[in-house]
Amino acid sequence: MKIISSIAELRDHLRGQLRTAFVPTMGNLHEGHLSLMRLARKHGDPVVASIFVNRMQFGPNEDFDKYPRTFAADIEKLEKEGVYVLFAPTEKDIYPEPQEFRIQPPNDLGNTLEGEFRPGFFTGVTTIVMKLFSCVQPRVAVFGKKDYQQLMIVRNMARQFALPTEIIAAETWRADDGLALSSRNGYLSVAERAEAPALYRELNLVADAMRAGHLDVSLLEKHAVQRLAERGWKPDYVAIRKRIDLQPPTAGDLATREPLVVLAAAKLGTTRLIDNLEI
Ligand code: PAF
Repeated sequence: MKIISSIAELRDHLRGQLRTAFVPTMGNLHEGHLSLMRLARKHGDPVVASIFVNRMQFGPNEDFDKYPRTFAADIEKLEKEGVYVLFAPTEKDIYPEPQEFRIQPPNDLGNTLEGEFRPGFFTGVTTIVMKLFSCVQPRVAVFGKKDYQQLMIVRNMARQFALPTEIIAAETWRADDGLALSSRNGYLSVAERAEAPALYRELNLVADAMRAGHLDVSLLEKHAVQRLAERGWKPDYVAIRKRIDLQPPTAGDLATREPLVVLAAAKLGTTRLIDNLEI
């Protein structure tokens, strides 16, 4: 695997590649990331991964400085997956001058759910994703459903800008007890790690209730938030939304069985976890 940090060298190395499959990451790779690499391989060749902890998508009180950086272990894992190029730029490589042009996601998609609790987050994500796409020029790019709203926003961005990159969605990779794999799970204490699967259990309770015909969306959301709070979580939201645009379903949507997803974000101790489940 070739490890490249400069954009010019990356372009030279990938010149003429028409079927590149790309997996952008922030490193600290776990089995979930590796499943994205395997899915990428099914959709293209060569597979290119990136590792870049993107300061622009972190809020001032978020974990940019303590975000886990495990570069040597990540390289070993990517080599085993047969990744052709790892693009690992420095901040100077990516932002040699202040990034004044930015991608602004639309309000209804970008300022709800995660966007409401992490102002500026999706502007940071879409700006770096657009820039990485411009560097790698992939035919396909793989994003996990774990970050459901990110996937939707990137997909809509690619469509509206007519990017020549198809966005492929990968299923969430879970531990045996249901906890969605995430780099932030590493922050959990032993006791918090034992409690953490409760978030996914809550999502399942909401989904089961809806499937059983309980269609009072706000009540289901409220009860899920209450149950999490009783267990010691600090929930930001549990929200039942339409899969198509992440907006709340109307009575008409519920009557016509519009495909839904339930999304949640909650803090356990100081660690903020997110998860979702398609209903
Ligand atoms: O999901 C992530 O790891 C990041 O948001 C991404 C897509 C690599 C952009 O920095």
